[in-house]
Amino acid sequence: MTNVIDGNAVAADVRAGLEDGVAALKDAGVTPRLATVLMNDKQASATYVSMKQRDCEELGMGAEDVRIDPDAPAEELFDTVADLNEREDVHGILVQDPTPDHVDDERVTAAVAPRKDVDAFHPENVGKLVGGNPRFKPCTPHGIQKLLEHEGIDPEGKDVVIVGRSKIVGKPLANLLFQKAPGANATVTLCHSRTRDLAAHTRRADIVVSAVGIEDLIDASMLSEGCVVIDVGINRVDADNEKGYRLTGDVDFESAKETASAITPVPGGVGPMTRAMLLYNTVKAAGEQHDVDVPLP
Ligand SMILES: NC(=O)c1ccc[n+]([C@@H]2O[C@H](COP(=O)([O-])OP(=O)(O)OC[C@H]3O[C@@H](n4cnc5c(N)ncnc54)[C@H](OP(=O)(O)O)[C@@H]3O)[C@@H](O)[C@H]2O)c1
Repeated sequence: MTNVIDGNAVAADVRAGLEDGVAALKDAGVTPRLATVLMNDKQASATYVSMKQRDCEELGMGAEDVRIDPDAPAEELFDTVADLNEREDVHGILVQDPTPDHVDDERVTAAVAPRKDVDAFHPENVGKLVGGNPRFKPCTPHGIQKLLEHEGIDPEGKDVVIVGRSKIVGKPLANLLFQKAPGANATVTLCHSRTRDLAAHTRRADIVVSAVGIEDLIDASMLSEGCVVIDVGINRVDADNEKGYRLTGDVDFESAKETASAITPVPGGVGPMTRAMLLYNTVKAAGEQHDVDVPLP
């Protein structure tokens, strides 16, 4: 029987495990607070931001929803982030992607104070992750590591093939899984658009992670019997329903689940974990900033 991994259930466990941390902080007079900064007018980004706000509120955390006109000068964003960096009552800052073309992405990443950088994209935090001593683990890779741990799938000694080398998923996940550390110790291969014969790599993998954004990029013919498949991709495809679309991953789920021993669905796999790990990082950040010993799940 294939294990269809229920990311919603595991994320609910993580959130429940954070309740003690939030309580410990409140006992010390601290309400952990996340500030999201949105500088675009895309519906999808606004939806992501409101989900993150709601997640915080449901856990009794503070949430601040900062909106900046996409036509405003870049300095307005940088001044806003600088103010949030200074505020003692804000512990995590997340600038929602994408920012407008006239805003330099690299400068945005470097603008958030590393101790409040709950996305873990600041160069200092990337360096700590690569060095094997992460301050924060980036949310999607950390969520994948937690999912594997929860399902009793230990990456140690396994061949992990990651498809996609973005700075938010592929690269940090590779950095996380090859570390000499619990929940890691894997032999990692990172594939991308220039990889020759992708199937030759995925076929020899014990664990395949796809983070590309192409529907049905991977099907059963590219997998080995009994492998684990983690599908990070989120693709909108036309559908005959009220919304006019449905979400699907990078993996042809129906064929892959016949071959895999465990697989994440889309939706309901990695996505909810990403949101849960953002809460985790914000609680951790608040504990560190106020010197409160915070239990973490
Ligand atoms: N579930 C979640 O929580 C979550 C979180 C983040 C992202 N996502 C989803 O994950 C997907 C990837 O997003 P992202 O931001 O990580 O990636 P991205 O920045 O769009 O990069 C895509 C990666 O896929 C590689 N690629 C493109 N075509 C390929 C092909 N035919 N074969 C092999 N590799 C190929 C690219 O290679 P090059 O580097 O050579 O261009 C690149 O490294 C999207 O669908 C996104 O919506 C989901």
